[in-house]
Amino acid sequence: MSKVKVLVTGGTGYIGSHTVVELIAAGYEPIIIDNLCNSSAKIVDQIEKITGVVPVFQQLDLCDEQATRDFIQEHHITNIIHFAAFKAVGESVAEPLSYYRNNFYSLINLLNARGSRAVNFVFSSSCTVYGQPKQLPVAEDAPVQPAESPYGNTKQIAEEMLRDLTKVNENFNVISLRYFNPVGAHASALIGELPIGIPQNLVPFITQTAIGKRESLTVYGSDYNTPDGSCIRDYIHVVDLAKAHIAALEALQLNKTTNYDVFNIGTGKGISVLEVIQAFETVSGEKLNYTIGPRRPGDVEQIWGEVKKAEQLLGWKAELDLAEMMRSAWAWENYLSEHPIV
Ligand code: UD1
Repeated sequence: MSKVKVLVTGGTGYIGSHTVVELIAAGYEPIIIDNLCNSSAKIVDQIEKITGVVPVFQQLDLCDEQATRDFIQEHHITNIIHFAAFKAVGESVAEPLSYYRNNFYSLINLLNARGSRAVNFVFSSSCTVYGQPKQLPVAEDAPVQPAESPYGNTKQIAEEMLRDLTKVNENFNVISLRYFNPVGAHASALIGELPIGIPQNLVPFITQTAIGKRESLTVYGSDYNTPDGSCIRDYIHVVDLAKAHIAALEALQLNKTTNYDVFNIGTGKGISVLEVIQAFETVSGEKLNYTIGPRRPGDVEQIWGEVKKAEQLLGWKAELDLAEMMRSAWAWENYLSEHPIV
């Protein structure tokens, strides 16, 4: 029997590449498109090293309407996991139009390209839509708050666009996954997060500091109303997160959800910045050079997810702990220092 094809946009990116590996393991045929603006074609070779399979890959910019339409028609795509988007919060504040242009044109072109074909669609959303929730853990029915950044706004508006479209298209089924904080790398250390320039996110900054690429990490704030004063997040291992996409796709195929649904994808546990640093030091045996600095504008104080809905309806649950997140992130940083991927 031929394998079910799944289009993975942004499939050479951090979460995309891990999802491609899990799709192959689950017996699907992933088809990657990526414009490589924030990743490398070498990731396709890394995926092959892990899986023994060379996935179909085409460099394509979803902002190119004609090329997108041709590609979707040619490959008879009916399953899509859409990662391709700009995602740097600070950059989105500095260049809002470029974020709205890229993230919406690409999504609209992709949706238009499907024509009248029945499609299952998994969308990368973010817990950023909740802002600072009043109640923790935050559940999917908590109010969406005005976005703190154009990046966050693109996620909120995209969710609304998708929901509106499902209302008038019975054969278009969508699951939006609201990720908490993805960290870690594949157990093989052959793929992981590949920040371009100075990392904005905590874990790559930790590993780059430990390996000597950065001098020192700044902890953004120690005067929050949390047990140790630093911010709290729900860190989720990227491999667990990748598996959530396969669970979502299967739920769509089996009509287990309504034709538009949203799920939190996290561990359900809140962990502070200082706890992350401590876990890293324990696992790596390295003493991390860090200082306490001022708060970072736009940071929420604390957030972690209510994750029962994904467990009940998707049959998915995070399995990997903080130690494994740190171990794999550190192994990946060490691999990169010997095998640079640019
Ligand atoms: C941010 C976005 C989130 C987005 C995600 C994508 C905000 C409010 N949230 O998550 O919407 O989906 O990036 O990557 O911008 N920290 C330090 N020192 C550092 C870096 C981070 O102390 O050098 C702290 C932060 O203050 C925060 C935690 O580490 O408390 C996690 O930060 P980060 O990894 O940047 O993720 P978020 O800000 O939670």
